[in-house]
Amino acid sequence: LMRTKIPEGLQKLPGPKPLPIIGNVLEVGNNPHLSLTAMSKCYGPVFQIQIGMRPVVVLSGNDVIRQALLKQGEEFAGRPDLYSSRFIGDGKSLAFSTDQVGVWRARRKLALSALRTFSTVQGESSEYSCALEEHISKEGLYLIERLHNVMKADGSFDPFRHIVVSVANVICGICFGRRYSHDDDELVGLVNLSDEFGKIVGSGNPADFIPFLRILPSTTMKKFVAINARFNKLMKKMVNDHYDSFDKDNIRDITDSLINHCEDRKLDENSNVQVSDEKIVGIVNDLFGAGECRNGPMLFCLQSLHDIKVCLCSLTGFDTISTALSWAVVYLVAYPEIQERLQRELREKIGMDRTPRLSDRTDLPVLEAFILEIFRHSSFLPFTIPHCTSKDTSLNGYFIPKDTCVFVNQWQVNHDPELWKDPSSFNLDRFLTADGTDLNKMEGEKVLVFGLGKRRCIGESIGRAEVFLFLAILLQRLKFSGMPGEMLDMTPEYGLTMKHKRCLLRVTPQPGFELPGT
Ligand code: HEM
Repeated sequence: LMRTKIPEGLQKLPGPKPLPIIGNVLEVGNNPHLSLTAMSKCYGPVFQIQIGMRPVVVLSGNDVIRQALLKQGEEFAGRPDLYSSRFIGDGKSLAFSTDQVGVWRARRKLALSALRTFSTVQGESSEYSCALEEHISKEGLYLIERLHNVMKADGSFDPFRHIVVSVANVICGICFGRRYSHDDDELVGLVNLSDEFGKIVGSGNPADFIPFLRILPSTTMKKFVAINARFNKLMKKMVNDHYDSFDKDNIRDITDSLINHCEDRKLDENSNVQVSDEKIVGIVNDLFGAGECRNGPMLFCLQSLHDIKVCLCSLTGFDTISTALSWAVVYLVAYPEIQERLQRELREKIGMDRTPRLSDRTDLPVLEAFILEIFRHSSFLPFTIPHCTSKDTSLNGYFIPKDTCVFVNQWQVNHDPELWKDPSSFNLDRFLTADGTDLNKMEGEKVLVFGLGKRRCIGESIGRAEVFLFLAILLQRLKFSGMPGEMLDMTPEYGLTMKHKRCLLRVTPQPGFELPGT
């Protein structure tokens, strides 16, 4: 290994001593968010580990992370060239690829503008404020009916399995103008594969850091490559179909909007960067996957099975949202008194005569505080997607060379006793004002789940809106409970997005919302 000379006045990064070849892999273990949080207590908020042969700088602590991602944003805005990223979106993903700064910036601008257009555009019915609200409301009501039917047939349901399809349908509606049945085998099969995806792209996949592991046979890696290839093929088909039927005067969905932006050639006139058609496929991948982001998102695509089925994989967008909602339901079951409190708030503020809307957010502070506490307590995106330094830099007096991989430990910030009173207890009141009637916005801003600065999640407002509206609609009509006599296991399983263990739950209708036949 080349030893880099440390400039005068700066110090060498502290950290545990690495073993030859494997580095600190053993100390990092299966729960890097916990082991790296423990190491930060020993080595401070900026330290270095070695995964395999590769040095990785780990950032913890609110102040240091803000300094790196906000004040020195440009220097920490790169993405490392990881082995697994090469397979995501054919290596063209906006979230994971190592694009040059100019190209990434142009693509990010394009994706942001497409998202903005499509989340605010008027939907088919004037009953809703925007297309996003329309898609979520319809899918929410459909999910309720679905859960009633599953309860009637089986007496219990697996929350993640059903939520994931509903969330995928919202993204599909926005990206491709389509929705899929909850019985679609192809779709459900791919949803289940998404767990494998999350495991590979989570921070600290050994094959990303130890080159010889790539040549050893690995079924998980094979599956990962296969899912990505399938996803990319389907995305290409979707985009090509949209090109074939594109009509400038009838923009149907995000894919049309992206094509329109590129046709206009308005994109980034200043830097003269053009985004190729292939990269549009990459962006659509990201948005679609965009439920899940961090170290890779979950590939989730809808495969259009010759007009009927659609495969799904997704990068960033959709796994994150389904994971958040699924955790929310599990927390509701674990804390029945909180569930009752949320239902009381809904009854008092919205009533039972109409479906909740996005504009109700300001009137439902307890629900908003509940969502913030789920983000904080579960920290289901324990790290951001790995960053990389774009030039030699320094942080807290330590020298960090160009092209160093950087892990940002969001879990540590969300559980730091210096920031939170009793961080391990689930307490939504920490996000309410003393009289309990308003949201304490300052506290809410301390929660770190969408990253910060130049690489901050571009789907944040859609993500927050979707989690809010789905939950409000579900809580207004359903009461969630566990299986009698069974304990809920809330231990998260590490991955790109951390999931709770799959479990079976029950629902009963809220008074006044019985479906015919229930
Ligand atoms: C990036 C979280 C939903 C699109 C990220 C990152 C996080 C995150 C932590 C990495 C930030 C970094 O590397 O510093 C979340 C959470 C969500 C969510 C918690 C939902 C609750 C979405 C949605 C979309 C989306 C709905 C798209 C519609 C993206 C994209 C990136 C990203 C494209 C990469 C940005 C870049 O590299 O420039 N997200 N996300 N996310 N997210 Fe999300």
